[in-house]
Amino acid sequence: MIVFQEFKERFRRVYGIEPRVFSAPGRVNLIGEHTDYNDGFVLPMAIDRRTYVAAAPRQDQRVRCASTGFDGLVEFDLSAPLKPAEDWANHVRGMAACLLRDEFPLRGADLLVSSEVPVGAGLSSSAALEIAVGLALLKISGQPVDPVDLALAAQRAEQEFAGTQCGIMDQYIACLGIAGHALLVDCRSLEYEAVPIDLSGTRIVICNSMVRHDLAAGEYNMRRAECEKAVRRLAAHLPGIHSLRDVESEEFDLWAGALPEVIRRRANHVITENARTLAAVEALRKSDFTQFGKLMYASHESLRDDYEVSCRELDLLVEIARGCAGVFGARMTGGGFGGCTVNLVRGDQVENFITTITQAYERETGLKADCYVCQASGGAREEQ
Ligand code: GLA
Repeated sequence: MIVFQEFKERFRRVYGIEPRVFSAPGRVNLIGEHTDYNDGFVLPMAIDRRTYVAAAPRQDQRVRCASTGFDGLVEFDLSAPLKPAEDWANHVRGMAACLLRDEFPLRGADLLVSSEVPVGAGLSSSAALEIAVGLALLKISGQPVDPVDLALAAQRAEQEFAGTQCGIMDQYIACLGIAGHALLVDCRSLEYEAVPIDLSGTRIVICNSMVRHDLAAGEYNMRRAECEKAVRRLAAHLPGIHSLRDVESEEFDLWAGALPEVIRRRANHVITENARTLAAVEALRKSDFTQFGKLMYASHESLRDDYEVSCRELDLLVEIARGCAGVFGARMTGGGFGGCTVNLVRGDQVENFITTITQAYERETGLKADCYVCQASGGAREEQ
């Protein structure tokens, strides 16, 4: 947990002035995976691990950033062209570049970053950083903040500076998350519905596999291209479709045979995942965790077999969870190829679950999974 007084004190030691503090959360996606860039539905929630940015404006156009996790200051100038670079501040630069392109007149800034969101675990540490930095830069420049516009600018920063052709989910939930709720986001209209999560007898437990396979970014962009190919092929038979969101499952059954085998499986995942996500929202509204859990398992199988973005470690975590008492459902969450699973577990079985899964996982892989019970928390904000 971050201690504000110490964090502000550290800022004062580095820069000699008093900062304002902004933050944005990491996220876990309950269901609706690899659907966002297909104009589909997702059901993420913001988690109670956040990235904090202490910030103060400067009189010139320079941005200086320090981090509690890395040594040294990274500096750049807002009046010079900003390009990607391989340092931790790449996302900071990307965010500044995209806000400037949106014609926000940003002031120079001194920044200090500190994060509770594990990096590379598929819990969107980069979106949390982009959004917290974006909010800080806008606020200290006296600019208005529209959360959807901020999310869209951060998505472009991710695409252009990190090179992942990501969808909108991570940046959107980091801006708009609501405590106690998951958000059903329609990634076409960018509207959401807040769905309360009744945690009276059930907990959401994240298990970090502690692996991240290198393929992630390249394979992600490849999946996106495969979906676009599916749309182009299907459009020959279904004129007027713009994305896999527009394809009804009956129509897909009729025309799936016209697609090459791999493309067919990718499209099948997206089309069935959209349906599962809407069904999961119904189940959540009724606190029907048994049904929700079944949909989670089905989502995992589809990601593993049709979309092929899981890996041995994630499959293992899901299989172990399936054998534990009190588990309603489990699935990989986020982009895949490592990272975390999300598990829906009966409250009185959580301790048992964590002990069993960490022991069994370590026995099989030699790795110590990190498990945390998480709460649905709020989106980006200024800390008082
Ligand atoms: C990553 C991307 C998101 C989304 C997920 C998969 O987290 O940043 O836009 O596509 O993968 O659902």
